[in-house]
Amino acid sequence: MVDKKKMSVADMLAAARKADGGESAASESPSAAAANPPEEAAPAAPVGDKPLPQKSATGGRLSVAEMMAAARGGGSAAAQPADKKPTPKPTDKPASKPAAEKPAAPVAASSEPRDSASILASARKPSKAGPMSKSEAATKEKSDPTAKEKPQIFVPPMPVKPAYAMPKSAVAEKPKASADESRRGFLSTGFWNLGGVVALWTLASVKFMFPNVRREPPSKFKVGFPDAFAPGQVQTKFIPQYGVWVVNGEYDGQPQIYALKSVCTHLGCTPNWLEAEQKFKCPCHGSGFYKDGINFEGPAPRPLERYAIRLADDGQIEIEKSRTFQEEMGQWKDPTCFIGV
Ligand code: FES
Repeated sequence: MVDKKKMSVADMLAAARKADGGESAASESPSAAAANPPEEAAPAAPVGDKPLPQKSATGGRLSVAEMMAAARGGGSAAAQPADKKPTPKPTDKPASKPAAEKPAAPVAASSEPRDSASILASARKPSKAGPMSKSEAATKEKSDPTAKEKPQIFVPPMPVKPAYAMPKSAVAEKPKASADESRRGFLSTGFWNLGGVVALWTLASVKFMFPNVRREPPSKFKVGFPDAFAPGQVQTKFIPQYGVWVVNGEYDGQPQIYALKSVCTHLGCTPNWLEAEQKFKCPCHGSGFYKDGINFEGPAPRPLERYAIRLADDGQIEIEKSRTFQEEMGQWKDPTCFIGV
C-alpha cells in the first residue's frame, strides 16, 4: 500500500489507472482493451515528489484527467471543479486510445521542471541551423574540427590617420619650451632682424654715394673714311646708335659731307629717309625735308640741324654731337659743320 503523504505523481497515476482500469475494462470490449493496452505500458515519468490531492473539488474521487491536470499543474488543478473538464466532441476519439498510441513524451521522462522555457529548450536541436551570433559561430568552429577553413583573403592594412584627423588627446603634444629657451629664441630672432635692417641701411647709404647717371654713347665717334660715302648718298645705318644721317650731298651749290641731326624741328619726332622720293618725311605730322635738311612741307618751322664734323688724324670722319648748327642762323657756313669734297 502506498503511503498517502509520500505518494508521488507516478504512484498517483498508477493508482488512478488501476481504479479506472477496472471500470473502463468493464465497459470496453476485450478487443478494444487488447488494442489499447493500459497506460502502464508507457514508462511512467516521475514528475516530482510533490504529493497530489486525493480528492476532487466536489469531494469525490479524482478522475484520471484531474490527476493528470494536477500533476501538470503541481496540484492546483485538483481544486478545479470537474465541470471545467472539456467535453469530448462526438467526432473525437476516445481519450484512452491516443494515450495508448502516443509514446511517452521525453518531457515526462525527465525530472526537469515543466515550464515553457525548459520545454522549448529541450525541443530545440543541439545544432541549430540558421543565423547565429559571432560567439556561437566561433564556438562551433572550435568544436567542429571538420569545419572548412576559410580562404585567406588579403586585407590591406588601414592607412595611418593624419595628425589633424586624430583626436587631440591622441596627438602627442610638444613639450613646452622652458623660459630660458623662449628668451634665447626671442633674442636670436631679434638679432637676425636687426642685422637685416643694418644691412639694408648700409646698402642704401652706399648707393646714395653714387648718383644716378644715364649712360649715353660718347658725343664724339668715327663713322669711316670719306670714300665710304658715295656722292648723293644718305647713310642711315648710324640712326639706331647715334641718331645721325651722314650725307654726301650739296648745299648752296657746294658738294660736301655733313651730319644731319635726326630730330624733327616741329615736335621732336624722328623722320624717315625716303630714297624713292629723295626726302626726309616725319611720320608724326607730315613735315618734309630735302636731302640737305631744308624744310619744305608740313608744320616744321625750320630746317634740320647739323652736328660738327671733321676729318680725324687717321683720315676718318669724326662727328661731335655736343655742337649743333642751325641753317636759319647762318651757321651752316661754318666749316666745322661740313667736309668739302
Ligand atoms: Fe615732325 Fe610734327 S614732329 S612734323
